[in-house]
Amino acid sequence: MSRSISPEVNGTVRRVQVSDELPGRSQGQYHNASPAGGRIGELFQLQRVDVCFGHRTALSKVELRVEPGPTVALIGANGSGKSTLLRLLHGLAVPSAGRIQRNGAMRQAMLFQRPHMLRTSVRNNVALGLWLRGASWRDAKVQAMRALGRVGLDNVAEQNARTLSGGQQQRLALARAWALQPDVLLLDEPTASLDPHAKREVESLMAEFSSEQARGAMTIIFASHNLGQVKRLASRVLYLERGRLLADLPVSEFFNANRLQQVSTAAHLFVKGELE
Ligand SMILES: Nc1ncnc2c1ncn2[C@@H]1O[C@H](COP(=O)(O)OP(=O)(O)OP(=O)(O)O)[C@@H](O)[C@H]1O
Ligand SMILES: [Mg+2]
Repeated sequence: MSRSISPEVNGTVRRVQVSDELPGRSQGQYHNASPAGGRIGELFQLQRVDVCFGHRTALSKVELRVEPGPTVALIGANGSGKSTLLRLLHGLAVPSAGRIQRNGAMRQAMLFQRPHMLRTSVRNNVALGLWLRGASWRDAKVQAMRALGRVGLDNVAEQNARTLSGGQQQRLALARAWALQPDVLLLDEPTASLDPHAKREVESLMAEFSSEQARGAMTIIFASHNLGQVKRLASRVLYLERGRLLADLPVSEFFNANRLQQVSTAAHLFVKGELE
């Protein structure tokens, strides 16, 4: 059984189906690729993708391939297109031109910058996502408690979610996503407004999720304004400026000033400015 709710409201998961047809008068194309041999192969492939809002171009000619495994960070100034790229990957924005292919077998979840808490208990906030996916309410509650234990919130399971602190809400949003066991987790500035302690807690959960061996690791793609966090968590860094993807490098190369300057002077200047 599957129940549906808008991903904006649920804030978490969508299963990509082969029949996905997204609305809009797009000239671009949206495709789902089949996984190779039942294993999850390449997750996303973008070819010269533009995303426009009216006359404004939020993404321009973006070429990108994402493989399962390495954690990917998106960085760039305000308005550079980070959220739009995450929304595009999650199916909440459509290409105006170009083509996006997605792995038809993967399950993905997205955390928005301000997680939406339903006006009910912490446990129900997690259980509802599982129930919407077809679990019985009894199973959903059991799995929800397991997920809350995972992020250290089982002690507040009966509390109204809206009374949690910002850091706790972010952990609840992570529990909601983790409970659904996505292959890909998209996070939009997951620690933006958190204090240093809460920030560290969310970062260590992200690191654990991406390295969990039991079920196969989750591939994490996150936007961040925090270069220290990018260094700590990412294996690969994408730099966006005015909707264009100007650098796409392994993290060690990205933070090597000479190498970055060779690839993109703009990215080099951005990093230099941020580190000053
Ligand atoms: N729904 C929308 N309608 C109109 N314009 C939009 C919409 N969403 C994004 N934009 C525009 O697209 C551009 C990219 O926005 P986006 O939110 O992706 O940037 P960002 O890199 O996430 O910025 P920030 O660091 O501030 O979160 C901006 O110029 C923004 O104003
Ligand atoms: Mg944003």
